Amino acid sequence: EDDQGHMKNAIKNAIVCLVVLPRFLMAAVMFWLLDFLCIRKRVFFRMKEQEGDAIDPPLCISDSNRLFSMESLKAVWHGHKLDFLKAAHLGHGAPNTEVVQLEDQKRSRILDYAEDKRPLILNFGSFVQQNADIADSVVVYIEEAHPSDGWMSTDAPYQIPKHRCLEDRLHAAQLMHLEVPGCRLVVDSMENSSNAAYGAYFDRLYILQEGKIVYQGGRGPEGYRITELRDWLDQYRERTEQPNNEVISV
Ligand SMILES: *[C@@H]1O[C@H](CO)[C@@H](O)[C@H](O)[C@H]1NC(C)=O
Repeated sequence: EDDQGHMKNAIKNAIVCLVVLPRFLMAAVMFWLLDFLCIRKRVFFRMKEQEGDAIDPPLCISDSNRLFSMESLKAVWHGHKLDFLKAAHLGHGAPNTEVVQLEDQKRSRILDYAEDKRPLILNFGSFVQQNADIADSVVVYIEEAHPSDGWMSTDAPYQIPKHRCLEDRLHAAQLMHLEVPGCRLVVDSMENSSNAAYGAYFDRLYILQEGKIVYQGGRGPEGYRITELRDWLDQYRERTEQPNNEVISV
């Protein structure tokens, strides 16, 4: 039986590698190209022109940041692997993982923050938009994508080393809270179970409702789109404001 377990694990790992490898290689080539500053400038200029909508956080990397390195490639592999293995899928039940509240360090679960039928925005990133009229939101702080002792980024507002214990993570979250005051902030457990379940490494957005995933944003940073979230909420608002709707049934 043990052999069978090993066999299953080996097959699973092989499948993960097969699926993740092409994406990883694409990213690696892109990183290598983007390390030529003339190419980087041109690509980001193009992106800015195309975007137009100023509300999405712009993707920009300062010239001093090298993209192609052992640490960056490790992080990209990790991110793609988490994305492939995540349990969260649109239309399915939302993983109810354990988190720790910043204010009192009490343990709770993701769905504890959902109220009745109100949508709950699950934000694995630091950009906060207020939609308090129709939705609640909670920011989940997970492992650092750019720790000072890993894939370091000079663009990060703080230099934070990899969290070695929950205290480290809570302390780092406190710094983040200074940037986004007033939002409800929880941190991932040291098992990183929310990060794994939601494939949230490098930021991601979700909307949960009645225990289900009703919006799933793309893998960050390029898939982290506040505009998509806003569109979903606008449509939801329209639906609920229609006179004879079935959404609000008392
Ligand atoms: C969770 O992430 C931290 C980095 O923030 C890492 O040190 C730790 O080993 C991870 N835990 C597990 C169970 O992988």
